[in-house]
Formats: sequence, C-alpha cells, structure tokens
Amino acid sequence: GVLAGRPADLGGRRLVISAGGTREAIDPVRFLGNRSSGLQGYALARTALARGARVTLVAANVSLPDPAGATVVRVESALELREAVLKAAKEADAVVMAAAVADFRPARRSGSKVKKTSADPDPIYLVKNPDILAELGERRRQGEGLGPRVIVGFAAETDDVLANGRAKLARKGCDLLVVNQVGENLAFGTPDNAAVVLAADGDQVEIPLGPKEALADVVWDLVAERLA
Ligand code: CTP
Ligand code: CA
Repeated sequence: GVLAGRPADLGGRRLVISAGGTREAIDPVRFLGNRSSGLQGYALARTALARGARVTLVAANVSLPDPAGATVVRVESALELREAVLKAAKEADAVVMAAAVADFRPARRSGSKVKKTSADPDPIYLVKNPDILAELGERRRQGEGLGPRVIVGFAAETDDVLANGRAKLARKGCDLLVVNQVGENLAFGTPDNAAVVLAADGDQVEIPLGPKEALADVVWDLVAERLA
C-alpha cells in the first residue's frame, strides 16, 4: 500500500490529532460552520499509524473512513472538541491541532427551531470560544513540563505568511506551526497542500505543493526529532 515502507520512528508514541471543523449550534437544526474537510488531519492519523504511533483522532464533523487502528472520538462543537482534546492530551507525547475550530459561537442556542415570521429575524449574538491550542501551551507552561512534549498548530494565512505565522506561534506557545499558504489554487477539500513549518527553536521548513500525506510525513519527521 501507499503507506508501506515508512520508518517505525513513532513506535509506541501516543499522539492526539484533531481534525475537521467545528459546528456551533444556532438551534436544533442549524449551525455556524466552516469548510474544513478533515483530509489533512486524517492524513496525519494514517501516516502516524503507519510509523508505529498510537493515535487518538478527535474528529469534528468529518465524513471520512476511520483510519484502521485509531481511537476515534467524534465531536461537534468547539467546547466538545476542547473536552476531548484536553482529556486525551494528559496521556499524550504530542498533540497536533489540525482542526478548524470556530473562533466564536452563538451566545445562546435556541432549544426549539427558530421559526420564520413576518418580522425581520433577530440578530445572532456571538461569544468567543476558548483557544484550545493556546490552552494546551499554557497548561504545559504552568505544569512545569508536564503534558505533551510537542504541541503542533496549523494556521492558514493569506498575507505576510511568515510574519503572521511567527507571531501566532509565539502567541499560542506551541512548538511547531504549520502555516498553509492559502491562495488561488489551494482550496478546501483538495488532496494537495503546501505549507511552511515554523518551529519555536527557529527552524523553518518549506513543504512544496503535494499530497497531504507528504505534508503529514514532514510534520512527523519534525515531531519525531523533537521526541527523540
Ligand atoms: N485553534 C484552537 N482553538 C481556537 C481557535 C484555533 O485550538 N478557538 C487552533 C487551531 O486548531 C489551529 C491554530 O489554533 O491549530 C491556529 O488557528 P487560527 O484560526 O489560524 O488562529 P487564531 O488564533 O484563531 O487566529 P485568527 O484570528 O487568524 O483566526
Ligand atoms: Ca481562528
């Protein structure tokens, strides 16, 4: 298979990967969401498993087959994703936040379906969701080294990719930030991706446009180095 022939350099490592995109409920039938397909997170899970890791995959609204051998935890909202990731992270060597987490959620969720009337609709007020990646970094800092040894974030930037990426890496307190160069021919739901990985230790690794598995393998190379 396409996953054969990889090194077992993640053998026995416990990895947590979040994938997909959160949905923030408006009422029982409606939500605010995003276009994340989960393809990159699932590619990370498959390649990590092929390299010998034990993988917990926290999947937000993904319709892809479960990677064989992964523990899959299905979530819907950012708050559910937070619970699942923080719980699994306690036992993890590394956490990779590939999920697109909604920055905001409706301030209140209607218990019954919002009905159309002759009047204009009410506005939807939003409140901030917790920043899970920043919280992982902060918990590790306060726990004086306890917790995952490697924390990886993803970011999509349209302009000043490197400057914005460096600032975000510092703000989040993570070890690696995979910055997608979003633009013309790089769309959600496609099998290919290009990125630059920024490391807190100053490293900078460019990943040319290619399959999401290839990008995943570069991320795992960098994680394996840091766990060694
Ligand atoms: N992330 C998170 N919790 C949030 C929002 C984002 O854990 N509430 C994580 C994402 O999973 C990703 C990283 O943070 O790994 C960067 O997400 P991004 O949306 O690029 O960063 P933000 O800090 O939300 O900044 P922006 O204003 O650019 O959206
Ligand atoms: Ca965001």
